[in-house]
Amino acid sequence: MINIDELAVFCKKKGFIYPSSEIYGGMAGFFDFGPLGVELKNNIKAAWWKAHVHDRDDVTGIDGSIITNPKVWVASGHVGSFTDALLECSKCGFKTRADHFIEDKLHMDTAGLPLKQIDEIVRHHKLKCEKCGSQFRDAEGFNLMFQTNVGPIAGSVAYLRPETAQVIFADFRQVTDTSRLKLPFGIAQVGRAFRNEISPRDFIFRCREFEQMELEYFVRPDQVHKCPYLEEFKAYELMVYSAEMQEKKQEARNMSVGEALHKGIIKTPWHAYWLAFEHAWFAGLGVRPERLRIRQHLNEEKSHYALDTWDLEYNFPFGWKEVQGMANRTDFDLKQHIRHSGKDLSLYDEDSKSKIVPQVVVEPSQGVERAFAVFMLEAYHDDKKRGNIVLKLNPRLAPFKSAVFPLVANKPELVKKAREVYSSLKPHFNIYWDQSGSVGRRYARADEIGVPACITVDFDSLEDDSVTVRSRDTTEQVRVPASILQSVLADFLSGRELNELGKAVKSG
Ligand code: GLY
Repeated sequence: MINIDELAVFCKKKGFIYPSSEIYGGMAGFFDFGPLGVELKNNIKAAWWKAHVHDRDDVTGIDGSIITNPKVWVASGHVGSFTDALLECSKCGFKTRADHFIEDKLHMDTAGLPLKQIDEIVRHHKLKCEKCGSQFRDAEGFNLMFQTNVGPIAGSVAYLRPETAQVIFADFRQVTDTSRLKLPFGIAQVGRAFRNEISPRDFIFRCREFEQMELEYFVRPDQVHKCPYLEEFKAYELMVYSAEMQEKKQEARNMSVGEALHKGIIKTPWHAYWLAFEHAWFAGLGVRPERLRIRQHLNEEKSHYALDTWDLEYNFPFGWKEVQGMANRTDFDLKQHIRHSGKDLSLYDEDSKSKIVPQVVVEPSQGVERAFAVFMLEAYHDDKKRGNIVLKLNPRLAPFKSAVFPLVANKPELVKKAREVYSSLKPHFNIYWDQSGSVGRRYARADEIGVPACITVDFDSLEDDSVTVRSRDTTEQVRVPASILQSVLADFLSGRELNELGKAVKSG
């Protein structure tokens, strides 16, 4: 697997991702998505929305504002507790994120440790400023929310949302009043979030501006141990790394969802269901299961709102890291907003004829950028035999679904025929036209940006009205009548084998 810096170079070279405002030296933690990046990112978000909202009867979506009344963030606890420990040099003022600094120097995981314990570790191991060698001041909590002013009024502080989740909680009343949701149900949102990271790093893994795909799943308080969908995933295998395994220095272990629940490793069937669902979402889009595991947060790592949290982790070139957090937020957020707003956010329960505050048994929450990095790392293949990179993105995610090539560019009748083929497909698929260089070069260029199938129009096409379709992953080629090309391409993109869809072209 390539390392994360090599991925950054590739993404820039091919037009997936650039450092933001690079002509002015860029800005750490901010990135721009180029012509291919925006397509891949949109496809990831569309695939997520389809699986989490459109394909389900129990989930609806919203798109909330980035800036809200700041009271939202007081109620949620973010103003008080959304901090990372910061170390500042007493002499040169160099600032660094304490847990990352200690992890780099001592290979010790200190995520979530209280400031006092961080100070003790720094003193015990005589850790000094890496810029000037001086001592650090006592560690401080640094709030990660970006502040701004709203309107021309100094001091009218507001925050750029650090998670989309709170907008779902703040809108809970309106969403439940205007949709016919019955518990259990979910409310989903995809949108930007901002965190003033002390030290953004690892390319798009830790950005200051990013997008989240989040789902709050609400359940009746007396149903937190009853998940009607569990059966679907009971036999599903996951690599499990519980808090106990971590404390006992054991290895993560493969087990079925049923076993993890039976042994009490995963505490609620809802948590188990959603962990498997999300794992299957990644696997279904081409991520190898052996590079995914679920890891339970240690007590000290958990966010202020969480009863129990599991992360879906991916084995990145820089180690196992979170791609998706799945916290049991209980009724913490709704109750906080009830208390701070004075509004009734409970639901009337017909069965018990009483008002209930639902429990968020699980909140699947992931950054689009992290998913983007995972899909790119999985797709990237340096094919020595072909002499080019082959980006084996799942066809649903691929920026371009196909490309049309006239065999040669200087034969007007051939170009005319190829243009007809191109125009017939263009309204149905995101495809491009390429007539420059040899066909071999055009195939190589298409491989490098993940085009699943290329279509070549040659001299025989003028006679038999057929074209050649070539697979990115196998280089296999078949001949297909132009009249059925649209349905052949659709079938191929949805997973059918090319050799079932046309007449094999003999190589050589
Ligand atoms: N909503 C959870 C998170 O942003 O981490």
